[in-house]
Amino acid sequence: MKKTWWKESVVYQIYPRSFQDSNGDGIGDLNGITSRLDYLKYLGVDVLWLSPVYQSPNDDNGYDISDYQDIMKEFGTMEDFDRLLAEAHSRGLKIIMDLVVNHTSDEHAWFMESRKSKDNPYRDYYIWRDPKEDGSAPNNWGSCFGGSAWKYDEETQMYFLHLFSPKQPDLNWRNPAVRQEVFTMMDWWCQKGIDGFRMDVISLISKTDELPDGVVGGSGYGDFGPYCTHGPHVHEYLKEMNEKVLSRYDLITVGETAGVTVEEAKKYAGEDAHELNMVFQFEHVEGDGKYRKWTDEKVSLKYLKETMSRWQTSLYGQAWNSLFWDNHDQPRAVSRFGDDRPAFREVSAKMLATCLHMMQGTPYIYQGEELGMTNYPFQSLDEFRDIESLNAYRDWVEQGTLSHEVFWPCLLRKSRDNARTPMQWDSSANGGFTEGTPWINVNPNCAVINAEAEMSDPNSVFHYYRRLLALRKQYEIIVYGKYELLLPEDDSLFVYTRTLGDQKLLVVCSFAEDSLPFEIPSEFADSQCLISNYDRNDRTGEVILKPYEAFVLKI
Ligand code: GLC
Ligand code: CA
Repeated sequence: MKKTWWKESVVYQIYPRSFQDSNGDGIGDLNGITSRLDYLKYLGVDVLWLSPVYQSPNDDNGYDISDYQDIMKEFGTMEDFDRLLAEAHSRGLKIIMDLVVNHTSDEHAWFMESRKSKDNPYRDYYIWRDPKEDGSAPNNWGSCFGGSAWKYDEETQMYFLHLFSPKQPDLNWRNPAVRQEVFTMMDWWCQKGIDGFRMDVISLISKTDELPDGVVGGSGYGDFGPYCTHGPHVHEYLKEMNEKVLSRYDLITVGETAGVTVEEAKKYAGEDAHELNMVFQFEHVEGDGKYRKWTDEKVSLKYLKETMSRWQTSLYGQAWNSLFWDNHDQPRAVSRFGDDRPAFREVSAKMLATCLHMMQGTPYIYQGEELGMTNYPFQSLDEFRDIESLNAYRDWVEQGTLSHEVFWPCLLRKSRDNARTPMQWDSSANGGFTEGTPWINVNPNCAVINAEAEMSDPNSVFHYYRRLLALRKQYEIIVYGKYELLLPEDDSLFVYTRTLGDQKLLVVCSFAEDSLPFEIPSEFADSQCLISNYDRNDRTGEVILKPYEAFVLKI
C-alpha cells in the first residue's frame, strides 16, 4: 500500500458554531477557533475539518450555503479566515473545508435567478419539474428532513427538488456549467492554501434520467435512494473534479457517502480510482434504528464488530478507511457506544478510543470527544435547535404515528443536538464557551467534564487521546498493519490483532460493565503494553478484565 501523509494523519472536526465564541454573541466564530489552536496542537491532531463557515441563512446550520466565497457574518470575516489558516499552518496544522455542493441555499444568487423564469440562464442549475396533472408533486419522494422532497414555486408554477430542507434546493450536476462553477470555486479555495475537502452528501449529486416514484416507507413518502444514491454519473463527475482540481494540489479528501457499500467505496476511494482519498461509511452508526434512524436502544457489539471488521478487511490494500464514532450528525460516542454514568464514563470513553484508534484508517475526532463529552439531558422540545430533530418530532408525534412517550427517549438518544452543545472548556457557567447567552444550552456537566480540568489530570480522557495519537506517530504498524478480528462470536469483547512484518499488536476492548475472563494468546507472553485504561501488569494466560477495560500489547 502506498504511504501518504493523509493516511498517517488524525483529523479533528470543529463545529464552529459550538467551538468557541470570541465576542460574546453566544455563537462560536473563527477568532474563537484561532484562539484554541494551541490546545489542538497540544492534543496532537494534524488536520482540522471545519464544518461550513460560508455565508448562510442557517436553515441547517451552514449546510445551506448562500455564498461559497464569503464567510458567515456571525463567524467573522475573510480576513479572520486568512488569519486562522495562517496561524494553523504556522503550527503545522492543516485545514480542510466542508464542501456542500449537492445543494445550495435557496438564498444563493444562482437559485434566486433560477426561480425567476423558465428561460433564466440559471434555470438549469437546479432540478425543476412540472406538477402532475392534479397539481401534485412530480413524484412521491420524501426529503431527509421530513415532508415531500419537492417544493412548488408560485413564480413559474413548477416544483424544484430538495433532498434536504426546502431551503436547500439540489443542484443539477448534469449541467456542465454547474460543475464548472463548483470546480472554479474549489480551485479558488485551493489557491488560498487550504488543505482539502470533506464533501457533504457527495454520493447524492447524480440523479437518474427518470425520477420515478420510490418505494413508500414508514414516513408515507417514497424512497429516493435508488435514483440518487451513487447515481449513474457520480464517478464520472468525481473523476472530472479530480482531474480539474484535486489532482493539482496535495490535498486530503473525504466523501460523505451515506449508504455506501464496500464495493462502491472502492470506486470512490480505490488506490487508483482518481476520485477521493477516502469516504465516510455509516454502516456501524446505522445498525440501531427502530423508526428509521430513531431508537432508544444500544446496537449489539456483534453488529459493530461485524461491520467494522468487514470494512477493515475488505478495503485492505485497495482503498483507505476513515474511522469515526461520532460527528455533528451523531449523538456523543460515550453515551451511545460506551457508558456515560459517572463511574464508567472515563474508562469507557478511553476504551472506545482505543478500539477505534488502533484500527486501519484515518481517525476523526469530533470536538469534545477527546474529553469524553456526553449527550445532553434535554428536558423539553424548546431546548432543541436542529431542524432534523424538530421536524422528526412533528412528523412522528404530532402527526400521530408514535406517542410522545415512545418517541421522546429516541430523540434524547439520537438527536444531532447532542453533539452540537458547546465545547466545554472550563467549569464556569457556560463552560468557557461564551460570555453571552449560548445559541444552544451548554451541558451542565461542564462543571466536571471540561478541558481545563482534564488537561491538569494526567489520567484524563484528554491525556489518553494524546497518548493514542502519539503512538500512531511512533508505530507504523498502527497505520499500516493488517487487521484480523479474534473472537467474532463474543458478545462483550472486541479483540483484534494488527500485523506488520514480524510485529504484531493485540487490541483488547471490553464493552461490558462487568468483569470478564479473557485468555491472552500465548504469543503475547513477552509483549510490551503500549497503552491501557487501567494498569494492566498481568499479561499471561487467563486474566480478569475490569469493566470497559482496554489495552494494547505489542510483540
Ligand atoms: C450532511 C451533513 C448534515 C447536513 C446534510 C445536508 O449529512 O453532515 O449536517 O444536514 O448533509 O447538507
Ligand atoms: Ca461569536
